[in-house]
Amino acid sequence: MKSLVSNRGMQKILEMPSLFVKELERPFVGRYEEAKLIALALLTREHAILIGEPGTAKSAMIRRAAQLVGARFFSYLMTKFTEPSELFGPLDINALKEGRYVRITKGKLPEADIVFLDEIFKASSAILNALLSILNERVFFDGYTEIVVPLWSLFSATNEVPEDPELEALYDRILLRQYVRPLSDNMWKDLLEAAWAIEIGKVGVPQPVMTLEELKRLYDLVLQVDLSPIKSKLLKLFAVLESKGIHLTDRRKAKCLKAVAAHAILNGRLKAVEEDLIVIKNIAPHDIEEFEKVSIILSEELKTPYKYLRELEEIKASVREIENYIASFPRIDSRFIVYRLTEIYRDLETTRERVLAMVSESSNEQVEREATDVIALIDRVMGRIRERLS
Ligand SMILES: Nc1ncnc2c1ncn2[C@@H]1O[C@H](COP(=O)(O)OP(=O)(O)OP(=O)(O)O)[C@@H](O)[C@H]1O
Ligand SMILES: [Mg+2]
Repeated sequence: MKSLVSNRGMQKILEMPSLFVKELERPFVGRYEEAKLIALALLTREHAILIGEPGTAKSAMIRRAAQLVGARFFSYLMTKFTEPSELFGPLDINALKEGRYVRITKGKLPEADIVFLDEIFKASSAILNALLSILNERVFFDGYTEIVVPLWSLFSATNEVPEDPELEALYDRILLRQYVRPLSDNMWKDLLEAAWAIEIGKVGVPQPVMTLEELKRLYDLVLQVDLSPIKSKLLKLFAVLESKGIHLTDRRKAKCLKAVAAHAILNGRLKAVEEDLIVIKNIAPHDIEEFEKVSIILSEELKTPYKYLRELEEIKASVREIENYIASFPRIDSRFIVYRLTEIYRDLETTRERVLAMVSESSNEQVEREATDVIALIDRVMGRIRERLS
């Protein structure tokens, strides 16, 4: 009986990360990957950064993520003028009078489990130095006192990857990186609806879906994932990436397994499979160009839904082009136009079949979702052609 209860408890806890992702992405359009990245950081007790142009909901997502975890949260927008005391707390004047150097850290970063430092690379060097040991060793040292901090994960958002070598040490300590692309034109309509819902307060502050205690239990599970099935493939990936000019520091290589294990847990598994190696796309790239490069390498190297998603994206773009092309046809029905339309119609039929085949080949939920969109688009264009031909 007891084991049944604990099994059920285990089941419940394993469902939490995907529930978290679902709740996190809910008010946003096209931000599933970003939500997953944040979940991976929490599951691995690592740090994450969203990189992208202004107004792509980076800050909004991180703030919502913090609301979804029942933990102590500290958030701050960094500028080059930010003083250490704004993050770490002011000095205790009374203690100072007695010759003691003590900070009042209540409600500040040294007492938070989850931290959001927006625009982290704008920080002054005094703050950057303190952050290095906080991120790596979870120790806050400001020249006088050393405090062990409870920090679980730190999140940041930035418009660009730092180029200054001085910032490299900090950037390297942020294991998980996501390039947040602005939404493509087919999502603009949804964006209007979603942003309006946020604007009129329809979204509101969410209830936490997991506590820090539950996160700790999930972290224990991450450490128990069977990684033997993917280790040799991971080593091969390191070699392929290196040969194509993508370099991971030893620190980042070393931490890959943890992220892979977290991806397995996020999918409710205690055993890693090849698909879990997709997390490398959030670890290997250094700058924006490398995100695309790594994606292509992974889609070639891994048996993942990824390759289908890329193909679907390409199909979608070309069907949209066809749609515009047809719209540009003159209204007169010359034999040439009838011939061209018939030809295009046949091609679309073939493409439609290919998309359906991809759904069954991949047997993946995300591919199915995307494919449904693409089929709807193809059907719309085919419908237009039928109207023209009738
Ligand atoms: N994909 C999206 N879905 C829904 N709303 C969005 C989306 N992208 C942007 N918004 C709206 O735009 C607002 C701006 O987002 P936010 O301030 O988080 O951007 P940001 O990426 O942090 O920008 P910056 O780099 O300038 O700080 C969000 O609060 C939301 O209302
Ligand atoms: Mg922001």
